[in-house]
Amino acid sequence: MKKILIQLDTDTHPSTFDRVVAVDAGVDELFSYSGITPENVTGLVHGAMFTRGPKQLQNTAIFIGGSNVHEGEELLETVTDTFFGPVSVSVMMDSNGSNTTAAAAVLSAGQHLDFDNTTAAILGGTGPVGQRAAELLAARGATVKLYSRSLSRAESTCRLIQEKSPGATLEPCELKPSAELASELEGSSLLIAAGAAGVQFIEADHLQQIMSLKVAVDLNAVPPTGLGGIEVMDKAFEKLDCLCYGAIGVGGLKMKIHKAAVEQLFLANDQVFSTEEIYGIGESLLKS
Ligand SMILES: NC(=O)c1ccc[n+]([C@@H]2O[C@H](COP(=O)([O-])OP(=O)(O)OC[C@H]3O[C@@H](n4cnc5c(N)ncnc54)[C@H](OP(=O)(O)O)[C@@H]3O)[C@@H](O)[C@H]2O)c1
Repeated sequence: MKKILIQLDTDTHPSTFDRVVAVDAGVDELFSYSGITPENVTGLVHGAMFTRGPKQLQNTAIFIGGSNVHEGEELLETVTDTFFGPVSVSVMMDSNGSNTTAAAAVLSAGQHLDFDNTTAAILGGTGPVGQRAAELLAARGATVKLYSRSLSRAESTCRLIQEKSPGATLEPCELKPSAELASELEGSSLLIAAGAAGVQFIEADHLQQIMSLKVAVDLNAVPPTGLGGIEVMDKAFEKLDCLCYGAIGVGGLKMKIHKAAVEQLFLANDQVFSTEEIYGIGESLLKS
């Protein structure tokens, strides 16, 4: 039976990036819909649920994407609420690449660090990628310092994460200028820059002064890079007295995770792939 992926995109046009990955993941038919909201999605989900018999439902799956991660989360909730009993299809949510990117960043760092003994600082920690990276790290025992330009935004993001992981150790922090930030980051062994495209947080000279730093990950591919001295292609590249990853250095693993997750949607009809599940898929990929 043909594998059908139903792409529900919250933007005006369905993402070509997500479409290409779907094809590369071996989907036979891709039905792409744009401008999808919780108000107009139910009929599309019913179409997925009521066409194939229970044993064949695993050959139909839903992918939720688009540039607005909050809208994607709302859509995921409506889609999963529409299912009942055994009448469901598997769903993956990766709006703006948020889940696959955060998973790839944390998994890359995990190649070199034991998170139980890690203090991780996340710059741009209130954004979709930063928040998810913080969530994954906190759930794995790391102490997380979450930075924002606004202390209150950092505090509310930490509260959201704490609700999901009650035992998490999180410290909301206000962003400082480069030199001051570097001295405040002393004691952190992992630094992830997850700020908006083109935003640089720290200069190379200051980054090098953080003696405790073992791994630095910069997810911003748009010049200037988020962490001075890190280049987009860096992948476990030893410089600035630590191991450095740039956006494309992490991007290769992100692509593999995205593709594997789409492939695995068709293994059963009741899976929901969001942050944790997508991290788990990446973890298995690295072990295999
Ligand atoms: N490598 C990959 O495969 C890949 C895939 C997807 C995304 N990305 C990159 O990952 C990064 C994070 O993505 P995202 O969607 O989470 O980013 P985002 O929502 O655009 O921005 C993240 C955070 O950056 C902070 N920020 C915005 N403007 C700033 C400024 N001028 N100065 C300092 N901080 C600023 C904001 O936090 P506050 O307002 O709270 O300070 C915001 O919440 C981006 O650079 C994106 O391009 C990479």
